[in-house]
Amino acid sequence: MMQIKVAKDPLAVASMTVDFLVGAGEKALKRKEGKGTYNLALPTGSTPIETYRELIERHNQGRISDDFIARMRTWNLDEYLPDPGREVWPHHEQSHRTFMERHFFRFLPFAPGANRILDPAAADLGEECRGYEQSIAVQGGLDLALVGIGTNGHVAFNEPRADADSHTGVVHLAPTTVSDNAEKFFKGDLNAVPKQALSMGLGTILSARKVILIATGHAKAVAVGASVLGPVTGWCPASLFQNHADCTYVLDTEAASLLIKRAAGPDGRLAPGTSLLRSEAGFSHSLIC
Ligand code: GLP
Repeated sequence: MMQIKVAKDPLAVASMTVDFLVGAGEKALKRKEGKGTYNLALPTGSTPIETYRELIERHNQGRISDDFIARMRTWNLDEYLPDPGREVWPHHEQSHRTFMERHFFRFLPFAPGANRILDPAAADLGEECRGYEQSIAVQGGLDLALVGIGTNGHVAFNEPRADADSHTGVVHLAPTTVSDNAEKFFKGDLNAVPKQALSMGLGTILSARKVILIATGHAKAVAVGASVLGPVTGWCPASLFQNHADCTYVLDTEAASLLIKRAAGPDGRLAPGTSLLRSEAGFSHSLIC
């Protein structure tokens, strides 16, 4: 089942996302009778920064315990693979390892070795990817995959025409992804953006017990609309979540604008049958698809 939550702005998206993330964690740990770990796939990108900030703030306020953090095990969704001759990764300032340390890991008391990211400097990349999959399986599988969406509908670095059963491996970045990421993270320099990456496979992401997809801003409206309303196809990798048993989209009003427009009547109001909820994060629509 796909569920869609619309919050008023990116801060409200972060707050709602953390509510879901903590709720799913408590449920997972309870199911494992307090002995296991809470296993998460985590994204990079501009969208999750507020979610990470919110998690850190709640921990600082004592609303998330040290024990909860110590039980978290994280696997990042992807990492850039340097172009030949550029050997500065994975410690490059735009590597996902650096990103996660800067925005998240260093602020919380994770257990040693709890935060895994694919290593682009591994001697054998195939082995690195297989070992990544295996480390997830050994830990009991992913309880939650927190993912973003590219403007072209990609998930992690699984670009359009992706295979729903794909495993973690080497992927090529689509030109739109290179230009989106150049704009956001590489001062507009297309040449500075690696053209390949290591990415968790769609099959692996889809195997998570729960998926939360976050998106904010007008630039994501078309990709969100296509992934929810369009056909289920590898041409829009996020559309594959339509078949997931437990997938929640958490969107701001801009990212959800096409969905809201479609649900609203000619007067611009939401159609009858669309349930409206009040949540901690503010006024939100909830459309169940
Ligand atoms: C990146 C990442 C994705 C991310 C997406 C959106 O290239 N590989 O995991 O979800 O693009 O990024 P942003 O949040 O900056 O829009």
